[in-house]
Amino acid sequence: MAKQPREQWATRTGFLLAAIGSAVGLGNIWRFPAVAYDNGGGAFLLPYLIALLTAGIPLLIMEYAIGRKYRTSPPAALRQMARPAQVLGWWQVAISFVIATYYAVIIAWAVRYVGFAADQAWGDDPEGFLFGTFLKAADEPGFVSGYVSGVLWPLIAVWVVVLGILAFGVRRGIETANKIFIPLLVIFFGALVVRSITLDGAAEGLDAFFTPDWSELDDGSVWVAAYGQIFFSLSIGFGIMITYASYLRRRSDLTGSAMVAGFANSSFEILAGIGVFAALGFMAQNAGVPVGDVATAGLGLAFVAFPTIISEMWLGGLFGVLFFLSLVIAGLTSLISIVQVVVSAVQDRTGMHRLPAVFIFGGAVAVASILLFPTNEGVYLLDASDHFINQYGIALAALVGVIAVAWLMRKLPELQRDADATSAVSLGHWWRICLGLITPVVLGWMMVDSLRKEFEENYEGYSTGFLLGAGWSVAIGALVVGVLLSLIPWKTAEGGLTDLDLKTADEAEARRRKQDRHGEEDH
Ligand code: ALA
Repeated sequence: MAKQPREQWATRTGFLLAAIGSAVGLGNIWRFPAVAYDNGGGAFLLPYLIALLTAGIPLLIMEYAIGRKYRTSPPAALRQMARPAQVLGWWQVAISFVIATYYAVIIAWAVRYVGFAADQAWGDDPEGFLFGTFLKAADEPGFVSGYVSGVLWPLIAVWVVVLGILAFGVRRGIETANKIFIPLLVIFFGALVVRSITLDGAAEGLDAFFTPDWSELDDGSVWVAAYGQIFFSLSIGFGIMITYASYLRRRSDLTGSAMVAGFANSSFEILAGIGVFAALGFMAQNAGVPVGDVATAGLGLAFVAFPTIISEMWLGGLFGVLFFLSLVIAGLTSLISIVQVVVSAVQDRTGMHRLPAVFIFGGAVAVASILLFPTNEGVYLLDASDHFINQYGIALAALVGVIAVAWLMRKLPELQRDADATSAVSLGHWWRICLGLITPVVLGWMMVDSLRKEFEENYEGYSTGFLLGAGWSVAIGALVVGVLLSLIPWKTAEGGLTDLDLKTADEAEARRRKQDRHGEEDH
């Protein structure tokens, strides 16, 4: 098959908007505020910023540098660094596959809630409405017993939009979509935050969010939460940024772009925290309880606490529509990037054209999502998969990735030279210290700590059978699929090199090293 020229972003702004669109997602709006609150409120900002500076931005720069240098998706890029490293690339592709299947479902719920918010369909029982009327959730976790049409059709719609955008390609599809969606998101979310901080009780909410509880900093799990939040939120560790950077021009600024994307994401996140806590302050004042009693995580925050707030405020319907639209937009721009990891890996591996790759392989993600999640048990399945793929997928792959790149392949100096050659800001020793030392130590410790907790107590008290089937199997399955895919020999010249080319290149490199050694000995 003839090799197609690789697509490129039209402009640096286009790339930056896409990178920010990928980073700013459900993780910023519904996950960050609750994680921050649970882990010491204002004091959480310190570990959070340390995680951003020591791991988030350095890893983002590393992923950008890998993507731009090899100009191909994670499996082919890592394979060119060292053949066995392609396992890591395929593992990241499998992780993206899993995340996309359930991420789309939350966007589908938000789509329905845009309509529900307009007439406050949840009445005076948002929780009963969410789990009973809308999700028709089974009493017990389990596997598919029946489908819920109210979730099924918005989910199909989400997939049609995402695959439709991807079908137009990087420049006409992804770049154009982000150029429309990101400004909209900024306007909607900006209006929401302004409205939130002018509500009665907002000051108490902000107090709860920003008053530091310094004692929490001694607790290891606070640091674990900070690093975990940074990885998910910046979209690092699951192949997205390597993929997006593979469409960059050779001379684009890497370090500056990583800093802009990293700080834009965190600013949005902190703004989301301010907006959410101001609204929770209002809710707590109405209920006459402390803010701590109304602050909940994840699902409870977006789909239970917010509906309550919407019902209580003046022009609540408008506020609700804007809030759920923001979730939909932020989620869509992230989901596009997650599915693109799968699509581009297949294209680079097989030389397949974009449209069949999008419809067959993007379609496979959509089918898995549609078969598994709009069901009575979907909410439990989603919760377990999310927890396990985050902990033992993203974070573990990031740990293996930094160890492989920094220590096994020793590629940091080369990547640093590449990044410095075209960036306005030069990376100093700090970059290599962060990636070679601080990040592996912290992530390694995170992993041990979180595994210990996993075996001490079943996640959310779910049965061991359910956790084995819906959590462990998902995380371990992604790794196994990664290993299996890496075992298929590369016979095509697409995405770079065949196994034979690589063998020749390896031999040439070995010869060159030998000659260098002899040269040194002769002097
Ligand atoms: N980075 C994306 C988010 O925060 C995945 O939701």
